[in-house]
Amino acid sequence: MQAASISDYRELARRRLPRFLFEYIDGGSYAETTLRRNVQDLEDVALRQRVLRDVSEIDLSTELFGLRSAMPLALAPVGLAGMNARRGEVQAAKAAAAAGVPFCLSTVSACAIDEVAKGDATPFWFQLYMIRDRGFLQNLLAGAAAAGCTTLVFTVDMPVPGTRYRDYRSGLAGAPGLAGDLRRFGQAVLRPGWSWDVGVRGRPHTLGNVAPVLGKNTGLEDFFAWMRNNFDPRVTWGDLAWVREHWKGSLVIKGILDAEDARAAVDLGADGIVVSNHGGRQLDGVLSAARALPAVADAVEGRLTVLADGGVRSGLDVVRMLALGADGVLVGRAWAYALAARGRAGVAHILALFAAEMRVAMALTGTTTIAQIDRNILATGERGR
Ligand code: GLV
Repeated sequence: MQAASISDYRELARRRLPRFLFEYIDGGSYAETTLRRNVQDLEDVALRQRVLRDVSEIDLSTELFGLRSAMPLALAPVGLAGMNARRGEVQAAKAAAAAGVPFCLSTVSACAIDEVAKGDATPFWFQLYMIRDRGFLQNLLAGAAAAGCTTLVFTVDMPVPGTRYRDYRSGLAGAPGLAGDLRRFGQAVLRPGWSWDVGVRGRPHTLGNVAPVLGKNTGLEDFFAWMRNNFDPRVTWGDLAWVREHWKGSLVIKGILDAEDARAAVDLGADGIVVSNHGGRQLDGVLSAARALPAVADAVEGRLTVLADGGVRSGLDVVRMLALGADGVLVGRAWAYALAARGRAGVAHILALFAAEMRVAMALTGTTTIAQIDRNILATGERGR
């Protein structure tokens, strides 16, 4: 199949990946209401079509945390994404660097910070959770700084992990020991392309950054147990002040959905926030990112950079998010699907698709620079959202 859209890449990823990996990327928590809302509410945003303006020169570039970006988009941190293709995060980081957009490495990636840094010199972003073991946390911060990461994305919407039914059905969660290994192995056998590329040629299968603390317990079950035991539910804004002190680069707080929390991020001295419900993977039933965004953007009054994620499946969606008040977006599932389908070339392709689709959306809303995109390009009746 010749992929022409993110949804085509989703289908290719479904055919390529063992079931447990596909369901992990694709799924959300509980009834997946918020997962669906993220997509639907964004699709429902109607834009104002404008005509007969000179739109021959469209500039997609913008600045994100002091660095030029070819478009207002970064690759979101996605846990385990590197399992979708051989040494996957290295491939994705290279595609992002070539396209001139930031790549954000997850704490729980397959490839460690150093491996990604060696793969490409372009500064990338690093994502961190509040982990109980503060010594380990400090090591990760030091590792990210040493690798030249300019921006730290601190995820705050996971004091406890959301329950994703699909992970239980697929055998990724709740299937300990040999029985779980056999189930996943059975799924991998049905996907020989992936098994050869990742299962055989992609070794070693460690969880890069977490490998030192997992020691000999390298199974997926061990990893999930570590996550359950080490994500710190006691964390407060006071702990984030500690992070602010220990991180000299830009600090972005990811997982803000509420205007009051957004103002607290401003008070903390954060450089940015990500308006996010974790792709519908945490508290099911909360507002979609698109619905939450305008009030959050109003609350911060331009005092920090507002990124948003959740439901962005096209360049048109990027423009919609900007119209609702974001300065930039993160895309997660989109690149994870593309990486699974075609590796680095797939990620490069979706980045080209996002850019091309943004150009069309901008041309037909009569905008030629990112700064011109604001609520004025929303259709009448949409502006009060
Ligand atoms: C991790 O961040 C996840 O959503 O699985």
